[in-house]
Amino acid sequence: MRVPGIRILSLLVMAAAGAAGGADFVGPDSCKGCHPEAYDAWMQSKHARAESSLTEQQKKDGRCLSCHSPEQVTQATVNVTCETCHGGGQYYSPEYVMKDSELARLVGLVDPSEKQCRSCHDASSPSLRPFDFKESLKAIDHWSAERARRAAGKDPSVKK
Ligand code: HEC
Ligand code: HEC
Ligand code: HEC
Ligand code: HEC
Repeated sequence: MRVPGIRILSLLVMAAAGAAGGADFVGPDSCKGCHPEAYDAWMQSKHARAESSLTEQQKKDGRCLSCHSPEQVTQATVNVTCETCHGGGQYYSPEYVMKDSELARLVGLVDPSEKQCRSCHDASSPSLRPFDFKESLKAIDHWSAERARRAAGKDPSVKK
């Protein structure tokens, strides 16, 4: 039986590593159980298939991977995944942390910013139109369905 206070304290100590970019990725399948709508929407997006746009040769090219599969080497997660945008989930993905939005952010949960998108959607990416943040957000919507479900008072993370 662990004391919650100690658990949080050790979490905060580990979080120093998390904040420094040291939090490990848990992979999109770990998020799926509690965020099924987000997962399904992400699976429909090009981010979930970004690595497959590359030829076998290009999959070995660090330049291409830096946007199409940035954590493939360091974290063994392929494509542009949940954690590419939301930060490595090692410390924030346990349920008791997720339910405390302040704590979750303290230990590595990131609110993805326009600047973050632009680190990949820049002038060198092969898009026909300049990157429009608001429009692009709509195109990757994986939160509306979950928010609607939450507003209806249903929580899939409660039943395991
Ligand atoms: C054990 C279940 C569980 C897992 C695993 C989990 N989450 Fe969560 N997550 C939750 C719960 C519960 C909330 C709080 C929802 C609410 O506010 O009612 C949440 C909230 C969030 C939020 C919104 C936070 C806020 O305060 O605005 C994001 C973003 C998020 N999770 C992303 C992720 C990602 C990415 C992963 C995988 C790395 C993940 N979650 C894994 C249960 C989980
Ligand atoms: C790590 C790099 C990276 C980040 C960060 C990133 N993207 Fe992307 N995004 C890509 C890549 C690569 C593709 C193209 C995938 C493919 O088709 O191979 C893409 C594709 C897209 C598409 C589909 C474009 C189309 O032609 O259909 C949208 C929309 C999009 N991203 C929105 C966003 C938004 C909004 C953000 C920020 C919240 C973001 N992206 C952050 C790399 C990134
Ligand atoms: C700076 C980030 C970045 C780098 C580096 C990058 N890409 Fe991309 N790539 C993108 C983005 C963003 C898109 C999606 C553009 C859009 O549709 O808005 C994309 C789209 C593509 C597509 C089109 C996929 C589709 O669905 O039609 C191909 C193919 C592609 N990139 C190949 C490559 C190759 C090969 C390399 C390495 C030589 C590379 N990319 C390097 C960001 C990048
Ligand atoms: C390209 C970047 C990107 C990727 C990939 C991504 N997200 Fe998000 N996510 C965002 C952005 C940006 C928002 C906030 C949108 C808003 O509030 O307008 C968001 C919102 C959310 C929310 C809603 C939080 C709330 O406040 O209600 C959850 C939950 C979430 N994401 C989970 C996930 C999960 C799980 C995955 C992978 C299956 C994932 N995300 C993949 C950028 C991303």
